[in-house]
Amino acid sequence: MARPTPALLLLLLAVTAAAAASYSTTAPAPAPRKKPAVPAVIVFGDSTVDTGNNNALGTVLKSNFPPYGRDLRGGATGRFCNGRLPPDFVSEALGLPPLVPAYLDPAYGIKDFATGVCFASAGTGLDNATASVLAVIPLWKEVEYFKEYQSRLAKHAGRGRARRIVANAVYIVSIGTNDFLENYYLLVTGRFAEFSVDAYQDFLVARAEEFLTAIYRLGARRVTFAGLSAIGCVPLERTLNLLRGGGCIEEYNQVARDYNVKVKAMIARLRAELPGFKLAYINVYDNMINLINNPSKLGLENVSEGCCATGKIEMGYMCNDKSPMTCEDADKYFFWDSFHPTEKVNRFFARSTTELFLKELL
Ligand SMILES: *[C@@H]1O[C@H](CO)[C@@H](O)[C@H](O)[C@H]1NC(C)=O
Ligand SMILES: *[C@@H]1O[C@H](CO)[C@@H](O)[C@H](O)[C@H]1NC(C)=O
Repeated sequence: MARPTPALLLLLLAVTAAAAASYSTTAPAPAPRKKPAVPAVIVFGDSTVDTGNNNALGTVLKSNFPPYGRDLRGGATGRFCNGRLPPDFVSEALGLPPLVPAYLDPAYGIKDFATGVCFASAGTGLDNATASVLAVIPLWKEVEYFKEYQSRLAKHAGRGRARRIVANAVYIVSIGTNDFLENYYLLVTGRFAEFSVDAYQDFLVARAEEFLTAIYRLGARRVTFAGLSAIGCVPLERTLNLLRGGGCIEEYNQVARDYNVKVKAMIARLRAELPGFKLAYINVYDNMINLINNPSKLGLENVSEGCCATGKIEMGYMCNDKSPMTCEDADKYFFWDSFHPTEKVNRFFARSTTELFLKELL
């Protein structure tokens, strides 16, 4: 399969826009430069989409040092990757900046955030208790930042324009892995004793529903919500499974599939209940399993261990410049560290998100 090309998506977007314009009988001469149909990319969630908010926190869960960011101009930004994350690629494909700035990054201001902003925080979850494990931003606080952002945006751009930006932006929400891997199955918060796994899935889906309803009431309309990935296949979990051969932990993958079924039902319900709410489910699970089973599709050679250090356990501070074992070419790997995909895989994931967005949400 060909490498995903943002240029192709731009072309697709242009064709879509041209087709829409050709239906209008009284179309004026085209403006010299068309404004993007999507004014901004707005991001909520965890490390899969955090572009640097944890840099501003007192947490130990950080990645603003090499070799993180080694394939990114600008270096280590706090993205848990060698390069860019899916929201960055989506933004670029929609004609917006190639990097989505983190809301807590003092290098950026409201003028930058008007075309894209990230409220995500590595280590957080749908469950309030998950964020407290590593002292990161709980999801309710991400929503508080979103409110604050809206009032800053209204002061900067005017009320009407701020409202249009909020209504027409694409929202990327990616969260949930940590609720299972850093909370429930680590036995650190008592959730394991409190809930059966089935009941915990229901609890998380109820939190997701609350969250989606909250951002809808605050004006969000075009939202992509990622299901869980094959969480039993991340290198850290494979390492824990070494006694049984080091394969994916099938029990965790089953939990992810069951949770995803419930998420899809919740999304269908919200779409029916909330007028004008365009909400799409992103099937990360199948995308990931397909790649793991057919790595050569993307030119990958290693889908079981991370590029950084031994690839078996390191992420955050353990993935640092001191390890001589870090791989040469991250493009051959599915995983960058023991938990997070490489830039190449993120670009691939972003392409399906952008395609889905253009098809269903525009
Ligand atoms: C999570 O914490 C926030 C802020 O304290 C609170 O408003 C919310 O009700 C909590 N959610 C749950 C399910 O306890
Ligand atoms: C994947 O990479 C790790 C180290 O980076 C190595 O130990 C392992 O043998 C590789 N696996 C495959 C299937 O190439």
